[in-house]
Amino acid sequence: MSQELLTDFLIGHKAAKPVSFHMPGHKGRADLYEKYGYGEFLRDIMASDITEIPGADNLHDPSGPIRQLMENYAGLYGVKHTELLVNGGSAGVVASILACVPKGGTLLMARNAHMSAYAAIRLGDIRPVFVMPGEDGKIHAEDVSAAIEWDAMMRDDPVASRKKRGAAAAPERTPISAVLVTSPDYYGVMSDISAIAAAAHRHGIPLIVDQAHGAHLVFFDQHLGTTRSAERQGADLVIDSTHKTLLSFTGTGILNICSDRVSQERVSGYLSMLQTTSPSYPALASLDVNERILRRASREIVETWLKDIRFFHENASRIDGLTVLRGEDIDPTKLSVSIELGDGNVVEGRALDLMLRSANIWPEMFDSNGVLLMTGAGSVRSDYEVALRALYEITCEKKVRNYAVPKTSAPAFSHALPEFAGVPEKSVRIPLYQAAGRAAGAAVTPYPPGIPLICPGEKFTNDLLIKINRMMGAGITLMGVDEEGGVLAGDD
Ligand SMILES: Cc1ncc(COP(=O)(O)O)c(C=O)c1O
Repeated sequence: MSQELLTDFLIGHKAAKPVSFHMPGHKGRADLYEKYGYGEFLRDIMASDITEIPGADNLHDPSGPIRQLMENYAGLYGVKHTELLVNGGSAGVVASILACVPKGGTLLMARNAHMSAYAAIRLGDIRPVFVMPGEDGKIHAEDVSAAIEWDAMMRDDPVASRKKRGAAAAPERTPISAVLVTSPDYYGVMSDISAIAAAAHRHGIPLIVDQAHGAHLVFFDQHLGTTRSAERQGADLVIDSTHKTLLSFTGTGILNICSDRVSQERVSGYLSMLQTTSPSYPALASLDVNERILRRASREIVETWLKDIRFFHENASRIDGLTVLRGEDIDPTKLSVSIELGDGNVVEGRALDLMLRSANIWPEMFDSNGVLLMTGAGSVRSDYEVALRALYEITCEKKVRNYAVPKTSAPAFSHALPEFAGVPEKSVRIPLYQAAGRAAGAAVTPYPPGIPLICPGEKFTNDLLIKINRMMGAGITLMGVDEEGGVLAGDD
């Protein structure tokens, strides 16, 4: 099968002048860098693609401009120390977990964690204790406290533990060494990090917040007088993928160390093992430009961004049938858009995504109910205007009724936690309909958002299989399910 080459795709895509409502946050706008005096950096950028020559410093042993950049970020975010990420927030999540949890130790983690957290627990042979998100998509501090206390009680009383679980032999329980939550999640849902931090700290446990989607929140706090960023709410480690909503290049981010509860040396040591020894200098420099622009102009950026979002909501509310999720605990920069058709039906997300893309508007992702329009510091008023016009035209088209599907309640993780049966020694590929009751041999993960529905060793249930089947039907990409609908399951 002949395929378009990647470079050809990129050249064609660029030429079509797409309107981006996906990552990265700079939205491909070179003029933004120019506006703040960094146009020169972008010109002839290949000449900046260097290696660790004298004067360029070394990410793995920083003492010059890279060390300075870390210090600048720490000052900007008001934290103790900042590490730079060139392998995305993913490397930050893995390093944070491994730095806090010893090999074979225990991590209390929100079940809607990103796949990088699941990679970390495999790498560290870590026992996960899961906390489920509530109906509202948030992680609740009471559930975190209860899980910590329950786990400690079970550890002190292995007989009760064995009875309770009906297990033949009580597995060794190491104490919980850290708590990990994601906030905001992919849809912008923010949990009460202050309360979760207090719950973790009461037990002497550090809190890691995967704030990959909320690198901008510190600036919103600064200029709006709020306290929504994890850095301002008592988290110990915070992972910010600056590329997702701010202005640095794809794959870059920062890891903020906010307290003395976690050893900086351990975090740096794990990052050094996980990140490339050949970091891209243009990518590192984009972190520098991002820091400098925000230091100088974060107020202007935040105010314009919020004004444009208000403009979007005001106009969206005048379009019949169009709904855009909003709420006090939802990051305003994420616009989850659905078109309601009455009778509990919506335009299927896949169809809406296609219709928008045929108008050259590119959402971040779709689910069965609609699309996620991800805005960024690089979004401009005309992006919102073009999206509103396209959405208005779509709602006027009679044919949208052909794409009606019942609206579902679809938080990213909305089914019961599957029972853990042990990772199978040998797995075989079987059709989905034969998987009920068998242990998964590999995770099944819708991507995006990259949150596993089931992890290796957990048992497929009928409910879960129905959900997976529905997602396949809705055209959602599912890692771990092959083209024929096969999954890996224990060979029993
Ligand atoms: C919640 C969450 N955490 C972490 C990551 C990983 O971040 P990155 O893509 O910067 O590696 C993602 C990626 O989408 C994510 O959604």
